[in-house]
Amino acid sequence: MTFQEQLAQAVAFIQNQSPYPQLKGLVVLGSGLGAFAETLQNPHYIEYKDIPYFQQSSVQGHAGRLVLGEAAPGFAIACMQGRFHYYEGHAMDTVVFPVRVLKQLGIEFMMVTNAAGGIHPDFQPGTLMLIEDHLNLMGDNPLKGPNYDMLGPRFPDMSEAYNQEMRTLAKQVASEQNIELASGVYAGLSGPTYETPAEVRMLRGLGADAVGMSTVPEVIAANHMGLNVMGISCITNQAAGLSLQKLSHQEVMDTAEQSRQRFMDLLQGVLTRLAAKSIALPQGGV
Ligand code: HPA
Repeated sequence: MTFQEQLAQAVAFIQNQSPYPQLKGLVVLGSGLGAFAETLQNPHYIEYKDIPYFQQSSVQGHAGRLVLGEAAPGFAIACMQGRFHYYEGHAMDTVVFPVRVLKQLGIEFMMVTNAAGGIHPDFQPGTLMLIEDHLNLMGDNPLKGPNYDMLGPRFPDMSEAYNQEMRTLAKQVASEQNIELASGVYAGLSGPTYETPAEVRMLRGLGADAVGMSTVPEVIAANHMGLNVMGISCITNQAAGLSLQKLSHQEVMDTAEQSRQRFMDLLQGVLTRLAAKSIALPQGGV
């Protein structure tokens, strides 16, 4: 079975049961942030395990299903409740497969979210950080190997990996809604260990403001296909060595939970604005 055939099967499977002929965008929900999908109107749920060539997400706090629904009337999107991580042992191709499938279903943008450790000294647990740019420190790249020319170019430009217009929109919405929104550079590492304090000092020197174990692969694959990307990190803890506390997944989940409402309001606000634009400009992108 070729990659193209696998892609076509997964696309057909979703298309056959989707109430929505066209999806406008994808929201990838990270650890502890899955509740956003419950805000969609007229939701349709598809378990990852039922979709051909999707894997199952094994991480606690990730539900493992796709939710299709309306973020605003007539503005249907897909939400991934849970994602595939490189540290789970998945190949990069597997990690980015859902984004590639959704692109075939018509999406024009991807909003990606994650829980991350704060490196910037001003970032307290609970800070929301708009991702301005990233450092790919995973030691791998989802585009390695033969290029899928039907998806995008061999050497994709990454100079605006996080779309400028979407970043501006996120800042506008945050300011209108009085949601504090920091911004910075996200460093993506393979995990699954949290960093050592020495690694965190290194990352600071490299220009990172936050560190996590996801997002970078999906953002690379999305850029390859010309999607407009926006990213938000929920800073769930200070990175190792910056506080006296040891790191735990439980702390990550608890803080994400506490930031949930602000986080959901921000996502919803951005989607409402995108919906308004898309209805005003039915031919246009975001
Ligand atoms: N490091 C890496 N990934 C994370 C962290 C962290 O401190 N917190 C949440 N995800």
